[in-house]
Amino acid sequence: MSADYVVNGKVAVITLNNPPVNGLGLATRAAAVDAIHRAQADDAVEAIVITGAGKAFSGGADIKEFNSPKALTEPTLHTLIRVVESSTKPTVAAIHTICMGGGLELALGCNYRVAVPGAQIALPEVKLGLLPGAGGTQRLPRLIGLERAMNMVVSGVFVPSEKFEDTALFDKLFAAGTDLVAEAVAFAGSIAALRPLPKVRDRTVDYPHHEAFLQFTRNTVKAMAGPYPAPLECVETVAASVTRKFDDGLKFERERFLQLAQTNESKALRHAFFAERSASKLPDVPADTPVRAIGQAAIVGAGTMGGGIAMNFANAGIPVILLETKQEALDKGLATIRKNYENTMKKGKLTQEKFDQRVGLISGTLNYEAIGQADIVVEAVFEEMGVKQAVFEKLDQVMKPGAILASNTSTLDLNRIAAFTKRPQDVVGTHFFSPANVMKLLEIVRGQHTAKDVLATTLALSKKLKKTGVVSGVCDGFIGNRMIEQYSRQAGFLLEEGCLPEQVDQAVEKFGFAMGPFRMGDLAGNDIGWAIRKRRYVEKPQIVYSKTADLLCEMGRYGQKTGAGWYDYKPGDRKAYPNAAVNDMIVEHSAALGLARRKISDEEIVERLVFALVNEGAHLLEEGIAMRASDIDMVYLTGYGFPVFRGGPMFYADTVGLYNVKAAIDKYASGRHGDAWTAAPLLVKLAAEGKRFND
Ligand code: NAI
Repeated sequence: MSADYVVNGKVAVITLNNPPVNGLGLATRAAAVDAIHRAQADDAVEAIVITGAGKAFSGGADIKEFNSPKALTEPTLHTLIRVVESSTKPTVAAIHTICMGGGLELALGCNYRVAVPGAQIALPEVKLGLLPGAGGTQRLPRLIGLERAMNMVVSGVFVPSEKFEDTALFDKLFAAGTDLVAEAVAFAGSIAALRPLPKVRDRTVDYPHHEAFLQFTRNTVKAMAGPYPAPLECVETVAASVTRKFDDGLKFERERFLQLAQTNESKALRHAFFAERSASKLPDVPADTPVRAIGQAAIVGAGTMGGGIAMNFANAGIPVILLETKQEALDKGLATIRKNYENTMKKGKLTQEKFDQRVGLISGTLNYEAIGQADIVVEAVFEEMGVKQAVFEKLDQVMKPGAILASNTSTLDLNRIAAFTKRPQDVVGTHFFSPANVMKLLEIVRGQHTAKDVLATTLALSKKLKKTGVVSGVCDGFIGNRMIEQYSRQAGFLLEEGCLPEQVDQAVEKFGFAMGPFRMGDLAGNDIGWAIRKRRYVEKPQIVYSKTADLLCEMGRYGQKTGAGWYDYKPGDRKAYPNAAVNDMIVEHSAALGLARRKISDEEIVERLVFALVNEGAHLLEEGIAMRASDIDMVYLTGYGFPVFRGGPMFYADTVGLYNVKAAIDKYASGRHGDAWTAAPLLVKLAAEGKRFND
């Protein structure tokens, strides 16, 4: 049963019941329509209360139906609202906890609304690149006014119910702790005989000189919306509530909604929404897998990463001990953490109380015995197998049984690290991204022997740390860095063939990346890639890299940390200024290679960089390193600044069409360094079958 029906005196109470948030899926809608009809037919019933069971009035559309035809199967949400609105007996929405999206639109279709304080009221559709498509844009302004409704629809943020006291949204706002249903029934009884029935659609939006306000809003929203069409469409539909008659406005809203739903931007946002949810699910780790309790954490290595990781634990309220080999390094690490928190406090983003709390949760030690009781230990020492070996052998001796032994390694073989212990089942990779206290991505590396409950615990922990956990198999670079290497290689070749760093960065940033490859290199430190390449020159001499990045490092230009990299930097200014000596070096290097520099289009730049990611992503899927295309997309959206409105590299490739992606790859395969472009067999297969990565 997804809507319960009881009669209380002369009032029928219909309770939406579809856990967890009473999403208005097909079965719930159908049950609600039946219940309304039943109440209409029951002579003993004089009024109807609609409410929600458990933790919500209603969270809106049922997300499970999002991309399925069920959402359009009758009774649709429109039909349900029409049935409610045309009821001959008065309807009262009794609102608590969560009333969002379609849930709010349903409430707006009722004759009356009553609520308790603290309920989250929102029309959040814009966050998925949509607009409220079931009358919300037309009815809400009629109750709370044009400006407030505009703000809510364009921003999608929720507003607590008590903030509407001065509006017509609620006919009664009860005190906190009230028995909502009992009071709603009493209210319904008190208005049962009143006629005519008030309908939101019959009200008008009064806003003198609305054109000036609307024009101002259009300008402001346009400047802020970036590549997304939805915010401006929200403005236009809310505007229709004042410029058009109700039914005309409703029709306009519907048209705009359907049009938005077809945009790549909305599809990308919805893809990202689902990708995030599915990333936390592993096919062979059931949802009810028991998790280990994490009440105390430890970090080995208080450097750049160790410090940031410790902050994540403290922010989540988990006490954490940092272990170092020398007092000096420990003091430095703890001081950096303190300074980071102080900076946040100075910006007004952290209270003194929270500061004290967080700093109080972090302690330091030079002694392994002090961390033995931690439930999880994250190793973040130098990226050298010998150092990792010494640390893991020691951890194996001192950590209590059942403790999770995690490594933050970004390139080393996790299975080898696990083999340094007698408990490889407890070893997992937790690859945080820098700065670890800021970046959302956490790659969770699953070793050959990693236990299922360790994975389940680490995934649950990632949520607690407010990270997006994505599971990767073991390989050099895992999902993110293995792909970025192909992207960086192409960026290097482009320099040799005719580009300068600025042109490449600008083309990629115009595509939507937060930062192009060269600005990113300067930020991360060009010496890191240099060190990795030096190792590769020995281990994998067959892989060809452009030497430009090495030449840059030989000039001592490591990036922002040395004040100079691909670009120049000025103190206190993160802006990148092109440097003539670097550009000369690039041009001279082309000449040394005997290459005639050519003009390269932005289109070619973007194709070569992005399709290099896609092709490597396809290899990862095929090898089972990544479980789903959407996991790869999540890695790139949360860890590499890939434009969200493009949905991630694999989703973007689906949008372009894999046939077209394959054709472009074949073209580059016949060009210079064509061996970098061997099309992944999975891509070839899907392209031939007309399929998508995300099917
Ligand atoms: P770092 O050099 O800033 O810090 C390493 C710290 O470990 C130093 O404070 C050092 O004193 C300490 N340490 C060294 N040996 C130790 C031992 N035996 N016992 C205790 N402490 C010891 O290095 P960073 O950048 O923090 O990297 C740490 C790990 O994180 C590496 O495995 C690296 O590959 C990985 N990583 C680094 C990222 C970055 O952007 N820096 C991003 C993701 C992962």
